[in-house]
Amino acid sequence: MSSLDQALRAALDARRPLLAELHEQGTDCYRLFHGSQEGAPGLTVDRYGPQLLVQSFHQPLERDDLLSLHAIVGETLGLDLLPVYNDRSRGNSRIDRSDPVYQPEAAALEDLVGHEWGLKYRVRGRHPGQDPLLFLDLRNARGWIKAHSAGRSVLNLFAYTCGVGLCAAAGGASEVVNLDFAEGNLAVGRENAALNPRLPAMRFVQSDYFPAIRQLAGLPVSARRGQKLPHYPRLEPHRFDLVFLDPPAWAKSAFGTVDLLRDYQSLLKPAILATAEDGTLVCCNNLAKVAMADWRAQVLRCAEKLGRPARDCQALEPAADFPSRDGQPPLKTLILQF
Ligand SMILES: C[S@@+](CC[C@H](N)C(=O)[O-])C[C@H]1O[C@@H](n2cnc3c(N)ncnc32)[C@H](O)[C@@H]1O
Repeated sequence: MSSLDQALRAALDARRPLLAELHEQGTDCYRLFHGSQEGAPGLTVDRYGPQLLVQSFHQPLERDDLLSLHAIVGETLGLDLLPVYNDRSRGNSRIDRSDPVYQPEAAALEDLVGHEWGLKYRVRGRHPGQDPLLFLDLRNARGWIKAHSAGRSVLNLFAYTCGVGLCAAAGGASEVVNLDFAEGNLAVGRENAALNPRLPAMRFVQSDYFPAIRQLAGLPVSARRGQKLPHYPRLEPHRFDLVFLDPPAWAKSAFGTVDLLRDYQSLLKPAILATAEDGTLVCCNNLAKVAMADWRAQVLRCAEKLGRPARDCQALEPAADFPSRDGQPPLKTLILQF
């Protein structure tokens, strides 16, 4: 048996209790192999409903490894999942190599459906973006939102495909607003809403974060001297009972820079001000090189400086399908109660 096969079998074995729990709660989207922590850096294997998504980030996977991996997963789960292999090791290379083993069947590339916490999500093996349509390490956070949204107004910032908004709606939120500047991502959010037709309607706001959050927080939107701002949608000031802030690691727009390493405060301050006096803010930082202790201290200090000290702060960890040998998972989540 190759060392990869051994590592994969060990990973699947370690997940048995978690998989039983997930299947019980109506979830068929999870990570089966988290290479960086389980013996093959740069390789991930995820189940998204009927699909098996294999991604390589450092070097392409050999054909025999791919075939064997598919067989081992099939044998363990007792399912023949539709494999899609996306090699991301050569800048932007989701392109298949010529060997037919790397070509997914047409059925694997169709619009599929995955389930999480009893909700349906759109699954696509290939689409215009690089990342899958649902970030699996955020599952526990989505579950928390579902369990804590009843009767509350919820603002989902950097909403991507609106998984958090969907959970809020399913959890009985009185109002859900999803905000993102990418119409393509919000369009998938709308598809996700359509896949769950019994849920109450959500709002989708296509806007850059900075002008939107400043308006909601009742702060002025001002241009740098001599510069004209591009058009942005006008929003009334509005504080939400529950705000979810999960920005990308880095992104630049005409309105500002998202930089989780150097400047989390610029994102956090207006988000705190858009949270109701006795509300809750859930914030995330997915940069591995930022330590939880340092970031937590920064977040709490920022809230205090704004005159909005948190009366409680809890950390939420990804589930056991994202193991972390050093106890420092890249995705850090804090729940601040004001
Ligand atoms: C890593 S995803 C966030 C994941 C998301 N919170 C979830 O629940 O899956 C980053 C998102 O931020 C959006 N984004 C990046 N910069 C932005 C900006 N300045 N304003 C609004 N959205 C932005 C991207 O379009 C993308 O959908």
